[in-house]
Amino acid sequence: MTGQETLTEPTLTALAHRALGLVTSGQRRILGIAGPPGSGKSTLAEAICAALGPATAALVPMDGFHLSNGELVRIGLRDRKGAPETFDADGYVAMLRHVRASFNERVLVPSFDRDAEAVVPGAIEVPAGVPLVVAEGNYLLLDEGPWAVIREILDEAWYLRADAGRVPRLIARHVAFGKPPGPARDWVLRSDEANAARIAPSEARADVVIEGMPRL
Ligand SMILES: Nc1ncnc2c1ncn2[C@@H]1O[C@H](COP(=O)(O)OP(=O)(O)OP(=O)(O)O)[C@@H](O)[C@H]1O
Ligand SMILES: [Mg+2]
Repeated sequence: MTGQETLTEPTLTALAHRALGLVTSGQRRILGIAGPPGSGKSTLAEAICAALGPATAALVPMDGFHLSNGELVRIGLRDRKGAPETFDADGYVAMLRHVRASFNERVLVPSFDRDAEAVVPGAIEVPAGVPLVVAEGNYLLLDEGPWAVIREILDEAWYLRADAGRVPRLIARHVAFGKPPGPARDWVLRSDEANAARIAPSEARADVVIEGMPRL
């Protein structure tokens, strides 16, 4: 790939301006935001969509494609929830293609309720006529299995490299969602960091690498 750009601690204004540059009248464009767990993908994607407004940008997270806890128990992956194999990657790819092809129609996509640890079907609306969809998730740029085709569905891809605060913030978030501190730390170091190592090589497939935390 040619011309990867690195932006160091960019402002929200600069990033929103760049996202707006993707908008082409009468067409659907998809901006992908990838990066390791806790790098700030959801926060940045929400901030970009809020800055551009609901008539211009809609947010589509990847975490609505988690397999159910029951299915994870059945396939022996309950203790690896969050790994690439614990998502319905084919369903996610099909949804992204559908969203891309549906500029003139409303599309409903699932979300994920972190409190209930469950998918919520049809919880997010991508209204007809919205020109930019911001897709965010860990595995958008993974060059493995069914994930590998996502790169070509994206009009532009950003990768959040994050800063040294990523791991402590991730532990704090697990605690905020109800895990005791010890198990939260164990989960992050065992599971989230294994996922982070899988994700790291996908940085090379991004158009833009964001170094440090964006200034939102
Ligand atoms: N630009 C930022 N500046 C400072 N803190 C941030 C920023 N972005 C995110 N954070 C904090 O970092 C933590 C992780 O952010 P967020 O949930 O957006 O990450 P994520 O990449 O979506 O994580 P996951 O992969 O687990 O979904 C949160 O506590 C959030 O408040
Ligand atoms: Mg997130």
